[in-house]
Amino acid sequence: MKKVISLVGARPQFIKEAIIGAEVRRQNAWNHILVHSGQHYDANMSDIFFNELDMKQPDYFLGVGSGLHGKQTAEVLTKFEELLLNEKPDIVLVYGDTNTTVAGALAAVKLKIPVAHVEAGIRQEPKDMPEETNRVLTDHISKYLFCCSGLAAKNLEKEGITEGVFVVGDVMYDLYLKMKPRFTPKETREQYGLEEGTYIITTLHRDFNVDNPESLRNILKGLLQAKKETGLEIILPLHPRTRKRIAEFGMQSLVENLKTTEPIGYLDLMSLTQDCAAVVTDSGGYQKEAYYAGKRAVVVMPDTGWRELTEVQWNLFAEAEIESVLQASMKCLQEWPFGEAVYGKGNAGEKIVRCLQQDDDWL
Ligand code: UD1
Repeated sequence: MKKVISLVGARPQFIKEAIIGAEVRRQNAWNHILVHSGQHYDANMSDIFFNELDMKQPDYFLGVGSGLHGKQTAEVLTKFEELLLNEKPDIVLVYGDTNTTVAGALAAVKLKIPVAHVEAGIRQEPKDMPEETNRVLTDHISKYLFCCSGLAAKNLEKEGITEGVFVVGDVMYDLYLKMKPRFTPKETREQYGLEEGTYIITTLHRDFNVDNPESLRNILKGLLQAKKETGLEIILPLHPRTRKRIAEFGMQSLVENLKTTEPIGYLDLMSLTQDCAAVVTDSGGYQKEAYYAGKRAVVVMPDTGWRELTEVQWNLFAEAEIESVLQASMKCLQEWPFGEAVYGKGNAGEKIVRCLQQDDDWL
């Protein structure tokens, strides 16, 4: 039986691996070794996903932790290379766009181990945002590029990548459908003291939004204005990066009238999303998950990799400006025609595992 190493490290990757790992077990496809880089390590940024998504515990934990980009990336690269030399896998699977992704892909390709990239072909301005660098580099050294949509495949074609590209859909949609029976909107709402349809869920963690005091202040003030205008509650689960910045910039008074919480796990967040009025976020994954739940989202970013949803104005852009956040939030509360599924049919994981199994090159 062949051996595949799946490398995860940050929140959105745990969610993606949950589907791939389950599918590998279902198809008894290969010896699946799970490696956790340790980029995210707090219990509610990491352990909670392993527990609630029925994932197997990692076979290896690299314990990399937080740090400057160079240091964090270099540590994954060094430790993962050593692990690859010992384990000698036939293929390495990486996900998304984090420092863990690019470091894992680089370590593998230098050892001539083929790389499979799940969520390939996403492109987004500004080109110098760290995730964009990670995506472009990873795509250009991957042998198998699994895309969520035709648009992602087109992005790759523009850069001359046409071999090994497979449009399979989004594994996060698979997970949404799989976990839906376990969502408990009423119970979870009550636990957070929220009533149906009376709250906006906000998540913020992008460096360009939260590391810049002016942007962070504007977004928080825009949210406060939206609360005042609409009478809706704003629930804001705080990513550790955002919590630190609010303290550092002395902005506690701006969140006093928002309902802040610790980061929320998958089941609670998706349960709350079922009954919310709208979403405001700078998370790539969550803007899609809002759509899966039939909710519109304000995307607080200059651009998005998920343009299929902004082009039909299901999701709306906002700048890090008070008025822009306010106006987009108000607009997002309006009814809008719900487009057909653009990220596959909920069987992306199955397709990815079958595709890799069928390729004689490595089998
Ligand atoms: C990373 C990814 C981003 C992804 C996000 C999901 C990169 C460049 N960015 O951003 O693409 O959308 O994960 O959340 O890889 N921290 C803790 N505890 C933790 C994790 C982080 O306190 O468990 C704090 C640390 O102060 C750390 C900061 O959060 O310095 C940022 O963490 P990091 O993993 O570098 O980036 P994210 O903002 O989480």
